Amino acid sequence: MACGHGRVTRELARRGAHVLGVDISPALLANAKAAEVRSPLGITYRWADVTSPRCLARETFEIIVCNFGLSDIDDLPRALATVARVLNPNGLFVFSILHPCFPGSGDDAPSSWPPDKGYFHQGWWLARNPGFRGKIGSNFRMLSTYLNALTGHGLQIDEAAEPRPPAGNASDHLGAQVPWYLVLRTRKVGAGPGMDAALPTGMATEKQREAARRNIKKAQAAAKEKRTMADLPRSTRTALGKQGAKVARQKRSS
Ligand SMILES: C[S@@+](CC[C@H](N)C(=O)[O-])C[C@H]1O[C@@H](n2cnc3c(N)ncnc32)[C@H](O)[C@@H]1O
Repeated sequence: MACGHGRVTRELARRGAHVLGVDISPALLANAKAAEVRSPLGITYRWADVTSPRCLARETFEIIVCNFGLSDIDDLPRALATVARVLNPNGLFVFSILHPCFPGSGDDAPSSWPPDKGYFHQGWWLARNPGFRGKIGSNFRMLSTYLNALTGHGLQIDEAAEPRPPAGNASDHLGAQVPWYLVLRTRKVGAGPGMDAALPTGMATEKQREAARRNIKKAQAAAKEKRTMADLPRSTRTALGKQGAKVARQKRSS
């Protein structure tokens, strides 16, 4: 997703993946396609605006990878809606971004946020450096914005990484002490917080999650009829645990 000239698509294909690369920039896609012609790896490239509800309407994927693309995409919720729509259940969404808390290092590596406005000022901005972010700008979002948007689209964090900056990258003391990048592997666990925020933890398989969703629906239906948890079959009560009971209580009181 947002594959640009295809450096990550090529690496994934070299590692054995069957890859489709999508991007909104015809110029970058032309570079990617030219590389595929020069050294074929079986990669398909396609123009797409990943924020469009029509994007990839007929396909589903096991894994979506987005390397330094999210801050270039203006509408994060709509991009994540596409991810959630086209990922298979339990599928992975893996992405890297400039760490939202990166405070900057020297003149060439500006902070994630506009320095004159501060961390809490979200939105598009143009850095004052000669590099990439000084030319095309980027969308700054707080860390919590990313985390809440992921959860809101049923994407649960599997693993997070904050790699150490390569030695020599930082041009000052602070820059050498903080992570520059944030990498998250997330898993599609459901349709969104409406249902999946209530799932008991420790459910490893989609089959277990599906069973838990069915049980939560039963609890919600029972709550609608003003029945109590005690009226539910023992198996449903056990599967629901505390989380399901909470849903039932909330529904009853609303
Ligand atoms: C910093 S580049 C990263 C490219 C590539 N992933 C890489 O690692 O080299 C960000 C990319 O996001 C793409 N992009 C921005 N908005 C997009 C959108 N709405 N849909 C698809 N691609 C988008 C840009 O065209 C650009 O190729």
